[in-house]
Amino acid sequence: MSQKRYAAITGAGHYVPPNVLTNADLETMVETTDEWIRTRTGIRERRIAAPDEFTSHMSTAAARQALANAKLAPEDVEAIFVATCTPDMIFPSTACLVQAALGAKRAYGYDLSSACSGFLMALDAGATAIESGRVQNALVIGAEKLSAVTDWTSRDTCVLFGDGAGAVVMQPSERPGMRSSYLGVDGHQADILFLPAGGCRLPASEKSVQEHQHFIQMAGRETFKVAVNTMVGAAQQALARAGLTEADIDWMVFHQANKRIIDAVAQRLGDGTTDRAIVNLDRYGNTSAASIPLAFSEAVADGRIQSGNKILMVAFGGGLSWGGAVVEWL
Ligand code: UT7
Repeated sequence: MSQKRYAAITGAGHYVPPNVLTNADLETMVETTDEWIRTRTGIRERRIAAPDEFTSHMSTAAARQALANAKLAPEDVEAIFVATCTPDMIFPSTACLVQAALGAKRAYGYDLSSACSGFLMALDAGATAIESGRVQNALVIGAEKLSAVTDWTSRDTCVLFGDGAGAVVMQPSERPGMRSSYLGVDGHQADILFLPAGGCRLPASEKSVQEHQHFIQMAGRETFKVAVNTMVGAAQQALARAGLTEADIDWMVFHQANKRIIDAVAQRLGDGTTDRAIVNLDRYGNTSAASIPLAFSEAVADGRIQSGNKILMVAFGGGLSWGGAVVEWL
């Protein structure tokens, strides 16, 4: 009988562009206030990539750090999974551009599009590839340049989003680092959070540009309500699959869309406190597929996440799509 193979995260890295856009800056762009943004979302500022800085660049920077932390060289990398809804181009995939930039000569790779849930979908793909024995390591990246698809004239959305990237390395392990994964989608509410144009349904035209169809559109209040309930459900499923309860969890790394959502989910899951929830959206806003690996990597780098800690990751986003995962940081 062959022994079961396990997968674990063995290194993490992140990158955010240096340019900061504060709530005060936004006050000069649309009719909003720092007070409204802070109290409704928890966001104080976000990072905006330079005009010539793309998702592949941010992915590559985060990946380099993750590889260094896992003590791997680019030539070792066998698979690259990039979760993003803002690829550099429709094709080739961002993964191909990252492969070239890293010099990861032996790697295959692809992009995975699942909006804010993308990272957990990619993490599942990475874990599956390792557990199956097909690859010895995989780079799993979540990266976005949301500023490129944000309507900077709409206060409903432009205060929310930011740019950035996070990456992890996955490798085989003696004990399970990836304790569980639970994923779901439901296309029935595809139109409450979407980017209408640029695909084959609504190719770029003068009209699509004039109508601002190339920007993210969101029914905020509806999305908020579904987000909390769905994230609590996804967390419970991921915990059950790991054979754990909320009390076993050291840190909660949730998608960073809104501080009120993070608090509500953390409170409903456990003892009513929010102390274990890792929050960085005050500094970065909602970075979609990048938010979970960015928060995870920061917490590993600053020593909050320690060896042996169990981390509950939960995501929710356009699709609708969602996911939960329990990861032990070995
Ligand atoms: O990442 C994927 C998943 N995304 C999410 O989960 C996001 C979920 N949604 C949210 O986080 C929140 O719904 C928002 C932050 C987007 C909005 O907060 P809200 O408390 O749901 O506000 P609302 O949309 O109900 O708007 C309340 C009021 C409205 O004015 P009236 O109609 O009450 O007069 C809006 O026009 O706030 C107004 N408003 C603003 N005012 C100042 C909306 N945006 C702004 C703004 N500045 N930027």
